Amino acid sequence: MEGKRSLPFCRVSLVGREMEYVNEAIRRGRLSSDGDFCRRCETLLSEMLGGAAVLMTGSCTAALELAASVLELGPGDEVIMPSFTFVSTANAVCRLGAHPRFVDVRPDTMNIDETLIEAAINEKTKAIFPVHYAGVGCEPETIISQSETHGLHVVEDSAQGIGARFNGKPLGTFGAMAAFSFHDQKNVSCGEGGALVVNDRRYLEKAHIVRDKGTNRKAFFDGATSFYSWVDIGSAYALSNLAAAFLLGQLEKTVEITQEQIAIYDQYMNGLAPLAEEGMIELPTVPDRAEHNGHITFFFVRNRSLRDDLLGYLKAMGVPAVFHYVPLHSSPYGQRLGYTARDLPVTEELASRLIRMPMFIGMRSDQIEFVVTAIYDFFGVKRPH
Ligand SMILES: Cc1ncc(COP(=O)(O)O)c(C=O)c1O
Repeated sequence: MEGKRSLPFCRVSLVGREMEYVNEAIRRGRLSSDGDFCRRCETLLSEMLGGAAVLMTGSCTAALELAASVLELGPGDEVIMPSFTFVSTANAVCRLGAHPRFVDVRPDTMNIDETLIEAAINEKTKAIFPVHYAGVGCEPETIISQSETHGLHVVEDSAQGIGARFNGKPLGTFGAMAAFSFHDQKNVSCGEGGALVVNDRRYLEKAHIVRDKGTNRKAFFDGATSFYSWVDIGSAYALSNLAAAFLLGQLEKTVEITQEQIAIYDQYMNGLAPLAEEGMIELPTVPDRAEHNGHITFFFVRNRSLRDDLLGYLKAMGVPAVFHYVPLHSSPYGQRLGYTARDLPVTEELASRLIRMPMFIGMRSDQIEFVVTAIYDFFGVKRPH
């Protein structure tokens, strides 16, 4: 087994024309967000998403903040979201003074439990920010229909959703807006990067203004105005052309990347299935209508202390497995918002016994086998042949 100690948790690999594009961007001397590669990423993503408007951003965090600003969220507003998510989903709302209304998750997918959303809606509710955890669609059609009944905006946190579909439709095309991440740990990456997808074009002009520091720069470049100036509150949310050049090389290979991620995911799941049959662990399930992208391989052990013991054992074996997320409702800031750990029992319980395995493009079959065997060894179970 070559280099078991060097097994990374994740890593970015060259999969296509990244270096050629980066060199081209440098040669042309355009590294800011005005460059051609930003536009090419937007065009390609738009094609992948059935023609939606796309604005490249410096991160998914930026895209979520941008969406929250476009919706003019503020004090007195509530936004429904899972607590089992990355901090950015909630920060986007809280920084404008709005309140995240955390809802429990489904045990099979760790996505927001759509059957609990209705009860969380009240007169303050302005939006729903569902998350497609692990690139598995979160019953978006049901959530959209609930939002229509109550006149709410939906912003999909599709940070992990690139290349995945639900009922045949790409994730990121259901809500009024959606946010993608191209961070190192995502299937398609440029280090730090993101995109805001605007499906409801009523928000498009404002999205450009907020992304471009509160200016009508886009209208100026489109020839619609003879100068540009400060027209609203905004920030510097755009992606650099240098990062976009790298990203374009990756985005062009989304299909191949997704196939490889799913192959890794399947090898893990097949390897761990007998251990699940023995009752040692529980594996997640992907609902029939969700075509996932193999973004995260995770499973559950019986309790928190077993999780900590297994993570310690794997670390000693050179396997960088991790747990995540510390649920937002029971985190220190969640408690300041008035939540207690008891508020979301399913999230609290499952998050405390979830383990996420290393996974990256180029991960070899023997590396996956090494991780799986280490997990069997921890449980003292002989691996079936
Ligand atoms: C669900 C979710 N939302 C938002 C983000 C933030 O993405 P970024 O790092 O691109 O800002 C992440 C990143 O891990 C995420 O997993």
